[in-house]
Amino acid sequence: MARSRLYVQPDRGFTRELVQRAQSAGYQALVVTVDAPVSGLRNREQRAGFTLPPGIEAINLRGMRPSPQQTGEAGSGVLLGGPLLAAAPTWNDIEWVRSLTSLPVLLKGIMTMEDAKRAMDANIGGIVVSNHGGRTLDAQPSTIGVLPDIADAVGGRVPVLLDSGIRRGSDVFKALALGATAVLVGRPYVYGLAAAGAVGVSHVIHILRAELELTMALTGCRTLGDISPALIQR
Ligand SMILES: Cc1cc2nc3c(=O)[nH]c(=O)nc-3n(C[C@H](O)[C@H](O)[C@H](O)COP(=O)(O)O)c2cc1C
Repeated sequence: MARSRLYVQPDRGFTRELVQRAQSAGYQALVVTVDAPVSGLRNREQRAGFTLPPGIEAINLRGMRPSPQQTGEAGSGVLLGGPLLAAAPTWNDIEWVRSLTSLPVLLKGIMTMEDAKRAMDANIGGIVVSNHGGRTLDAQPSTIGVLPDIADAVGGRVPVLLDSGIRRGSDVFKALALGATAVLVGRPYVYGLAAAGAVGVSHVIHILRAELELTMALTGCRTLGDISPALIQR
């Protein structure tokens, strides 16, 4: 399924246009990232002095009104009470995004049962249990650890996807056993891309699939439906 990923931008008019563009381009779901209203503290990135190289840009954000962080209006280090967090999305904004599109809206970055329940009340089309690959708030729990409670809260009403730390097919198996509908991967496919381009990405997927099948064979699961919590020792 083609899904488009969205940050609710401080420029709400621009956000509306992005949603409409995603829908007209044929995407089948909209994934709204809710765990990063501001960027996390990335010391290694700071030390490396990382910036996008010339010629690389967030092309879909071209023409957007600059954020308070970009204009310097956000001040140095002051967040609470500042303009940056005032523009951060709230549950009302999620409702607003839903009103803009007929596509299912999934929330990415749900890490508690309470937020999962709230998402259900807001008629969300699915949940991505994610700690952003550990790239936002350091010291968050693992996604596999919080998954069972969230899956319970959702109770099979909508898909529950999981990411952050999927590295082997056996990780996929564990996530499916503990209540995920499917998993997502971030860095593994980036590593494949860096090593061998598109072929590298497809090889990463191939390895994950082969490892998942092997784990299923070794645990007596003929189908994905046979994967159950009983196969996991906690
Ligand atoms: C270089 C990089 C950039 C990312 N950018 C975004 C982003 O713009 N929005 C978002 O929701 N997640 C972003 N993520 C997080 C991924 O979507 C995903 O949640 C995470 O990488 C999953 O963990 P994994 O890398 O351990 O598989 C980014 C991850 C990486 C590695």
